[in-house]
Amino acid sequence: MSDLANIRRHRRLRMKPRLRDMVRETALSPDDFIYPLFAVPGSGVRTEIGSMPGVFNLSVDRLAAEVEPAVALGIPAVLLFGIPETKDEVGSGAYDPNGIVQRAIRELKRQFPDLIVIADCCLCEYTSHGHCGMVRDGVILNDESVELLVRAAVTQAEAGADMIAPSDMFDGRVAAIRAALDQRGLTQLPILSYAAKYASCFYGPFREAAQSAPAFGDRRSHQMDPPNVREALREIETDIAEGADIIMVKPALAYLDVIRAAHERFNVPLAAYNVSGEYSMVKAVAKLGWMDGERAMMEILTAIKRAGADLILTYHAVEAARLLSA
Ligand code: PBG
Repeated sequence: MSDLANIRRHRRLRMKPRLRDMVRETALSPDDFIYPLFAVPGSGVRTEIGSMPGVFNLSVDRLAAEVEPAVALGIPAVLLFGIPETKDEVGSGAYDPNGIVQRAIRELKRQFPDLIVIADCCLCEYTSHGHCGMVRDGVILNDESVELLVRAAVTQAEAGADMIAPSDMFDGRVAAIRAALDQRGLTQLPILSYAAKYASCFYGPFREAAQSAPAFGDRRSHQMDPPNVREALREIETDIAEGADIIMVKPALAYLDVIRAAHERFNVPLAAYNVSGEYSMVKAVAKLGWMDGERAMMEILTAIKRAGADLILTYHAVEAARLLSA
């Protein structure tokens, strides 16, 4: 018994809820969240995505109703994806000034002038083959694809987007997009770059939502190899040098070490994408009754923030903000 006289009593600060509140090191807030949305053609469309319960494909006229609770809960930003009417080899829908995302941006900015509307900038939702850029003889081309991404970014900016988020992982795209925006006088429009994006199976449910699974091959020639972390730091360093204002690590949950390393090394705001597969896993286990879904959600989001993310892109945004404000 006397052996215990001088032990450190860590439990002292855990004994009362208010004490735990006082010494808590990480707190989530609704303004940490960015809420992803999927715009589809047509009107009156609100179709739940099978593998992502609670997430919907929405026609432009249905976006506002989905965004309203998010705004009311204090979520500052949305990330827009578009699924076009028709897809082609060169992803024309991505840089059509009247394309699905451009129309969605205009509509959201009209209804919610203060909402930060971020445009995801990639070709994979718009190409018939589902790749993120141009393909020739089975090879995914870099520089030709960057040219198309620049066109997409410019039309998104001209439609009124508050931020451009290139998600393709081609080399040199941040510099090219920055130059094109600056040339048009859009020097104050920030770029959130998907800087360290891994070739991950956790995007599976998203590809159902965006109908963007590659028709052949995979994304391993441009997205990163999961075992690498130093490579992520090289990618991020390059994107910052090219003009990225906010950098992103994606996915989040299986890459908390990458988030931590990026947080320690770089002094720009850091975002992490709590991707579709991470969301769907929580929904699935909750449905099976194997875990408490709400607690799993909050623990995961807290862990992403604790690892060093300043911003979290998450399909849980509205649910989590609701719990935080309860
Ligand atoms: C590409 C893009 C993807 C995601 C966001 N942007 C898919 C991919 O690279 O295959 C995945 C998001 C998620 O899984 O939630 N435009």
